[in-house]
Amino acid sequence: MKLVMLGPPGAGKGTQALRLTQEFGIPKISTGDMLREAVEVGSDLGQRVRGYLERGQLVPDELMIELVEAPLQEPDCARGFLLDGFPRTEHQAAALDEYLRKRGERLLAALDLQVDDEVIVRRLTERRLCPVCGAIYHLTALPPRTAGVCDHDDKALTQRDDDRDDVVRERLRIYHQRHGPVERYYDRSGALVAINAGAPMEQVHRAIVDALEAARQQQAYAV
Ligand code: AP5
Repeated sequence: MKLVMLGPPGAGKGTQALRLTQEFGIPKISTGDMLREAVEVGSDLGQRVRGYLERGQLVPDELMIELVEAPLQEPDCARGFLLDGFPRTEHQAAALDEYLRKRGERLLAALDLQVDDEVIVRRLTERRLCPVCGAIYHLTALPPRTAGVCDHDDKALTQRDDDRDDVVRERLRIYHQRHGPVERYYDRSGALVAINAGAPMEQVHRAIVDALEAARQQQAYAV
């Protein structure tokens, strides 16, 4: 089960990815998490990408393509994986396909989470995260049991630096600029699956699971 998750900032990629990877027992590769971790530890990569993240702009393709290759080569990705936040450009999508093609593999689906811009701004300004376990909360849609504290480890919840209103709007602007070619790329290859991600979380999850079942059956017929 090799999957990519597309969608604007705040579409719910991380939220849905966590559930899917637990349910299907496949690893999640989140390029956003990898980049933020690099910035936090102050690595060479972190220093190179910090400015892009702060401004809400895309990190250059070549750097991103190199970054995802290492986790994709891990043995636990042989059965499947879920890429959250990659690809974001047509060039990245083609590089991923080329990587899979060389190994005689292909994607099961490119899940395209679709949400209106106004919903996104509300979702991101109310998002809270656990810095330790990575749990994702929302002040109204998914609040923690105790305000400001993670349900799993009692750590104080934090906000992402790029969830500021002006940066969110820049991330959305770039998304709208870059997403069309990626969407058309996967439409041509037959992997594109559109998901209404403006619905409640559970409903989005069910829609994804149903779509994956349909894609599996289609792939089985095609073999
Ligand atoms: P990244 O970390 O990938 O951020 P993003 O794509 O902007 O997406 P988010 O993580 O903000 O949102 P999400 O869709 O995961 O939503 P979530 O589930 O948290 O990338 C960050 C930066 O890294 C980029 O700006 C770029 O600079 C760089 N980068 C990363 N990958 C790159 C690449 N491939 N190429 C170049 N640069 C790259 O949900 C959001 C909130 O909504 C939460 O509070 C959640 O609880 C709530 N929520 C979720 N679903 C629902 C629902 N159905 N109903 C109500 N609330 C919901």
